Amino acid sequence: MAGLSLLSENVEFHTFSIGPVKVSTPLLQAPLDGWTNEPFRRITRELGAPLSITEFINGLDVVHKTPNLPQRIAFDESERPIVFQLFDDDPDRLIESAVILEERCHPDIFDVNMGCSARQVANRGAGAGLLRFPEKISRIISGMTKALSVPVTAKIRLGWDSESINYLEIGKIVQECGAAMITLHARTRKQEYSGKADWSAIAALKAALTIPVIGNGDVETISDAERMMEQTGCDAVMVGRAMLKNPWIFSGYDFENVPLDLFCETCRKHLKYNKEYYGNHWGCVTFRKFAKRYLSRLDVSREDMQTLMTTDEPDTFCRYFDSLLNGDAL
Ligand SMILES: Cc1cc2nc3c(=O)[nH]c(=O)nc-3n(C[C@H](O)[C@H](O)[C@H](O)COP(=O)(O)O)c2cc1C
Repeated sequence: MAGLSLLSENVEFHTFSIGPVKVSTPLLQAPLDGWTNEPFRRITRELGAPLSITEFINGLDVVHKTPNLPQRIAFDESERPIVFQLFDDDPDRLIESAVILEERCHPDIFDVNMGCSARQVANRGAGAGLLRFPEKISRIISGMTKALSVPVTAKIRLGWDSESINYLEIGKIVQECGAAMITLHARTRKQEYSGKADWSAIAALKAALTIPVIGNGDVETISDAERMMEQTGCDAVMVGRAMLKNPWIFSGYDFENVPLDLFCETCRKHLKYNKEYYGNHWGCVTFRKFAKRYLSRLDVSREDMQTLMTTDEPDTFCRYFDSLLNGDAL
């Protein structure tokens, strides 16, 4: 479906492999809790993203079989290669949960979250909290690579705070323990999402490692992705928040340049997938946050947007959404 060649000729991209999985386009979908569910991932894949990566999955939920687990691990077979991202503070439980999920779902890759900055995750020692315990990271990655038959990757940050920047140390540990790829969100845990991502750290990590290094942080446009690849030499770029409004970035389009017919077709398809997945009512309700972002492309009045966002009845919601895509007022 790629409409344009993704990056200009002066940007070098080489196909690379994560174990047996070949990655042949340079923009990867980031995992985003609350967003990168099955319907949205299917959209990104149809638009050109080379892999699907789940929202993070709590090792505790896997081991204790909590009721929300089935939704966290659901994927469509068309999404393969599918990456399951796990988080936990306990190395043994993390490894155990990966083994359980490999047997049950056969994902193609496991990623370990070492970057989540949310207090309830990081303060418990999971997500970015792991960066403070390199020996745990070593146990996790070597334990998982031994126990699983598929590749293991890691997603990290620069360090806990500016006084404890340790991404180079962590990167080397992750590589030595057998990981097949690493992604760096170039901020510290303390920064959360503030300030600017430090792309020079992505360049330093790429120079220090032999496994594929994926750059992440503050890529909003195709030219941002090109600049990140040029400036850092990273193997690919992971796009997070920007794709929520513009999944067409995986086809090489900035938001304002998406051809209108493709734009409308994708919007309708996303709503359809959402309804198929969540049922009519929840499919429409959970689509609101995407609709709001997508419709910012069009000239929709505040009143019409408000009407759409407060419409509970699924058929009416769909009819209104369709009218707004057609450029009609409600
Ligand atoms: C709402 C939200 C949820 C996120 N959930 C996850 C997650 O489940 N796993 C993960 O590794 N990172 C998660 N992240 C971090 C993103 O994957 C990414 O690293 C970060 O947004 C920086 O990239 P960006 O500047 O392209 O958005 C999340 C970020 C946001 C804003």
